[in-house]
Amino acid sequence: MKALVLSGGKGTRLRPLTHTLAKQLVPVANQPILGYVMNHLMEAGIRETGVIVAPETQEEVRGYLGDGRNWGIEISYIIQDRPLGLAHAVKTARDYLAGDDFVMYLGDNLLGSGISEAVERFEDSRAECMIFLKEVEDPRAFGVAELDGDGNIVRLVEKPKVPPSNLALVGVYIFSPVIHGAIDSIRPSWRGELEITDAIQALMDSGHQVTGEILDSWWLDTGKKDDFLAANTTVLDEYTCRRIDGQVDQDSTVEGRVEVASGATVVRSTIRGPVVIGEGARVENSFVGPFSSIGRRTCIKDSVVEHVVILEESEIEGVVRLEDSLIGRNATVRKPGGLKGSLRLMIGDHSTVEI
Ligand code: G1P
Repeated sequence: MKALVLSGGKGTRLRPLTHTLAKQLVPVANQPILGYVMNHLMEAGIRETGVIVAPETQEEVRGYLGDGRNWGIEISYIIQDRPLGLAHAVKTARDYLAGDDFVMYLGDNLLGSGISEAVERFEDSRAECMIFLKEVEDPRAFGVAELDGDGNIVRLVEKPKVPPSNLALVGVYIFSPVIHGAIDSIRPSWRGELEITDAIQALMDSGHQVTGEILDSWWLDTGKKDDFLAANTTVLDEYTCRRIDGQVDQDSTVEGRVEVASGATVVRSTIRGPVVIGEGARVENSFVGPFSSIGRRTCIKDSVVEHVVILEESEIEGVVRLEDSLIGRNATVRKPGGLKGSLRLMIGDHSTVEI
């Protein structure tokens, strides 16, 4: 069993962060989403993985994953020149996948549980494809499954205006090589993409067995700011342990599950978990409240923050209260001096400021 990790695409919904960062590398609880994906593949015993990359973001994806040795997985990079759909990505990787079964894992999907047992069940089954479904509030943004009274999949539709159910397709699929023929039989959808959903429908239409499992754990779509903050909250809640490797001075209080990475410093501050503070970060004369991720070398001074994700090398200074916020890399949020009440802003494209 091989794996195919999809780490291309444009990430338009998470702009402006994704103008300069691949969406799969945006960190959740200070770990890039791709890191969670690789952990799941490693746990499932996968030893060879193809990673689909886009020409624009391939350097940083390669920079993070390297040759895969951190996960004991041999990685081969496969370039997809244009984002022409998930089934197109599989087509691009056909030579690499050869005649093997494979797990396809979308690099921006976060799952609360691993895939080891599902891989075992697939190997014991006679199915050509296994998909995972999860109930969501608004299925129109996803592939959606229609089931019969016995729970068998009857039909799959991609982003339907009128969804036949609220069961969305999760971005993890297990395939036998039969999928390649099905991909050859489909045409691009209305959005100009070769949809994997259509290829799986084609498999079913030609009489192949497709099994669907309802995912027990949470599944997070990190698409937009609020979804992203929700993902960060869930992951912090689930995984954070108390671990203080950095320096905390005597005038500071660290309550609950807080990770202070090595090289980080906390001075005259209160940190209330779950919180992660990255390597080399500095928190001074501040309060960092629950569900916050503070990136590497970020500095928080004379401020109160809660339920925030602040990426690397940013600076927050003199901010009375910052909450429900997502701040990118090398950003500065500072109380203005000088002219009373005036704001001075330099905001990039596709940004939002709520005053
Ligand atoms: C893709 C699939 C969709 C699936 C979703 C899961 O959508 O086409 O069926 O539900 O991933 O993340 P996309 O990310 O291309 O909008």
